[in-house]
Amino acid sequence: MTINENYLLKLYSKYKKELEEITPLIRKKFLKISQQGFRATFSDFEGEVLYVLIRERKPEIIYEISPDCGYSTIYMVEAINKNNLSKKKSKLYSFEIEKYKNSEPLLRVINNTLINQSPHHKIIIGDAMNTTKNYPNPDLCLIDSNHEAFFGQWYIKHIFPRINDIALIQDITFYDRREYSGEAKVLLDFLKNRNYMSLGVVERKDSFYMKRESFPNRRFYETNSILVSFKEKIQNIKPTYKDLTNDNDFSKHLTHEEIYKIEKKLEFFPRRQNLWRTYFLLAKNSECKIDKKVFLNKAIGHAISESNFNLKSLKHLSFLSLRFGYLKTFIKLLIIEPSIIFGVIKLIWLTILSSKFFAKINN
Ligand SMILES: C[S@@+](CC[C@H](N)C(=O)[O-])C[C@H]1O[C@@H](n2cnc3c(N)ncnc32)[C@H](O)[C@@H]1O
Repeated sequence: MTINENYLLKLYSKYKKELEEITPLIRKKFLKISQQGFRATFSDFEGEVLYVLIRERKPEIIYEISPDCGYSTIYMVEAINKNNLSKKKSKLYSFEIEKYKNSEPLLRVINNTLINQSPHHKIIIGDAMNTTKNYPNPDLCLIDSNHEAFFGQWYIKHIFPRINDIALIQDITFYDRREYSGEAKVLLDFLKNRNYMSLGVVERKDSFYMKRESFPNRRFYETNSILVSFKEKIQNIKPTYKDLTNDNDFSKHLTHEEIYKIEKKLEFFPRRQNLWRTYFLLAKNSECKIDKKVFLNKAIGHAISESNFNLKSLKHLSFLSLRFGYLKTFIKLLIIEPSIIFGVIKLIWLTILSSKFFAKINN
C-alpha cells in the first residue's frame, strides 16, 4: 500500500464524525490555554492528520518529541484513547526538556491542556537525546522540538532507524518556502533523493479543504510539516520554492501589481505565522515611500490580529520600529496598546546586555 493523498482523504472521510466531535473541544482548550499565556504551536491540519493516522494505523508505541505545553498532545491522547488498545500494549511517550512552563510544573501544565487524561500517556522530563534511549522503539513519531542542525543530525542518526512506521516532523517546510532553521536544512538535504509528503502542499488542495469545512478553526496557521514513511511507500509531494518576495531577502523594488499578487498569496487561507514580520521586512527594504507606508500599516494590522492571544507581536513590532527609526509606527502602536512600553524597555535592555556579552566573547 502507498500512503498518498487518496489514502489521507479516505481517512478524513472515515474519521470525520470523530473530528467533528473533538475539534470544537480542542478550540475551547486552545482559547483557554492561549489566554493563560501557554503556547500552542501546531496547525489545525497537522493535528487532524496526526489524529487520523493514529486512529487508522493503531501504533502501539508513539513518541512525541516534544509536547511543550501539550497542545499537539491533545490530538494524540484523544486518538490513542479511542483506539482502546490494551494498556500494556499501547503507550504514548512525550519527551520534554523543560521542567516548568511559565513557572508552573510541566506535568500540571500538560494535564491542564488535555481534554482527557490517558492511562497510556507518560511524560518524560529531560533531554530527548538521552531519555529516548530508555524506551521501546516507536511505531509513530512526532518531532517538533529543537530546530538546530545538531538536533536534526541526531534524530536522523538515532531516531529514524528506530521508527517502525511513520513520522510527522513539524517546522520543516511550507508549501512555498522552507523554514529558515538548521534542522530544516539538514533534514531536507537528507531527504533530497527520498520521498516525503509536504503537508503544506496537501493542505491547499480543494479536496482537503472541502473535507475540513465543518471543523472549527483552532490554531489557524499554515502547515509546515512533512510525513516520512519507514514501512510503506509514500507519495512524493514536495513543495516548489517559488518565492514571491525575491528569495525572502526583500531587496526587490515591487510594483503595485506585484504587491497585490503577494498580498493575494500571503492572505490566502490559512494564515501565515508572523505575517507582521514579513510586512515589516518588506517596508524596511522598499525604496518607494508610499509602499513603505502601506507595508508598515499592514504590519500593524497583522500584529494587532496576532495580539488576540498575547501582546508579543505588538511588543516586537514596536521594538523593531524604534530600532529602525519608524517613529510614527512606534507611536501608533503605543497609542493602540500603551502597556507594551514595558515589554519594549525589556527588549532594549536585553539587546544591550547581549551585545555587551558578544563583544566580550569576541574580545
Ligand atoms: C515548538 S515546541 C513544541 C510544540 C508542541 N508540539 C505544540 O504542539 O505546541 C518545542 C519544544 O521542544 C522542547 N525541546 C527542545 N529541545 C529539547 C530536547 N533536547 N529534548 C526534549 N525537548 C526539547 C522545548 O522545550 C519546547 O517545549
